[in-house]
Amino acid sequence: MSPDDQDVRERLAVVGEIAAEVAHELRNVLQVVSASAYVARHEASHGDAGAALPHILKIEKNARIAHGIVDDLMALARGETLQSEPVLLAEAVVASRDTIEPGVAQWDDDVEPHDLRVRAHTGLVVRLLHVLYDNAIKACAPRPPRIVTRARAASGRVIIQVSDDGPGVPAHIAARVFEPLVTARQGGTGLGLALARRIAAAHGGSIALVAGGTGATFRVELPGA
Ligand SMILES: Nc1ncnc2c1ncn2[C@@H]1O[C@H](COP(=O)(O)OP(=O)(O)O)[C@@H](O)[C@H]1O
Ligand SMILES: [Mg+2]
Repeated sequence: MSPDDQDVRERLAVVGEIAAEVAHELRNVLQVVSASAYVARHEASHGDAGAALPHILKIEKNARIAHGIVDDLMALARGETLQSEPVLLAEAVVASRDTIEPGVAQWDDDVEPHDLRVRAHTGLVVRLLHVLYDNAIKACAPRPPRIVTRARAASGRVIIQVSDDGPGVPAHIAARVFEPLVTARQGGTGLGLALARRIAAAHGGSIALVAGGTGATFRVELPGA
């Protein structure tokens, strides 16, 4: 095998891993689309176009989200230099909850200063946060966890800590939790945190599981803007 083959193989492995995560994330969005289409059709068939409208808007919104997921993750898979811009962290935090149903978590945001910015690809920061929130919610289900997002600037970098009050990462996988396919959840893919790590690294940043304490805390470091 030549060094070129090796390179191609590694790139294919990365693309495969990201494609699997795209599929996984799209499934959630498509579920919302299907459910909304069902209700909209029901309302429309009873001649109530007004009642159908909010569901049609929800379909449109989720179609946009689905496009965004594909675009963002394919940008990462192509391995090009990412288009980075100053991203308002507080806005990324809100956007990352777009597909999370209200009431499944209690959010506690502590972003200081309120206009704190990272230099990053907007869509990918949103995806990274989404992975952490999704995991916290699933670890605690059916109980809605309290999820604290704390972000601060530190010497040109931004440190974001996402903590929950759930059971914590199972000890037997804690050391390997960012590796692809490592999961302790039924129906899990083990690709969420691998993607999160890839996104952080693509920005010259990092992600780590913080040891100790109750629940789980993930610490993300990204360049400031
Ligand atoms: N906030 C959390 N609380 C408890 N366990 C977690 C948390 N986040 C991740 N984990 C553990 O890490 C595993 C890997 O997460 P992830 O890479 O997102 O894959 P998946 O969610 O598909 O299992 C999860 O299966 C879970 O066991
Ligand atoms: Mg996950």
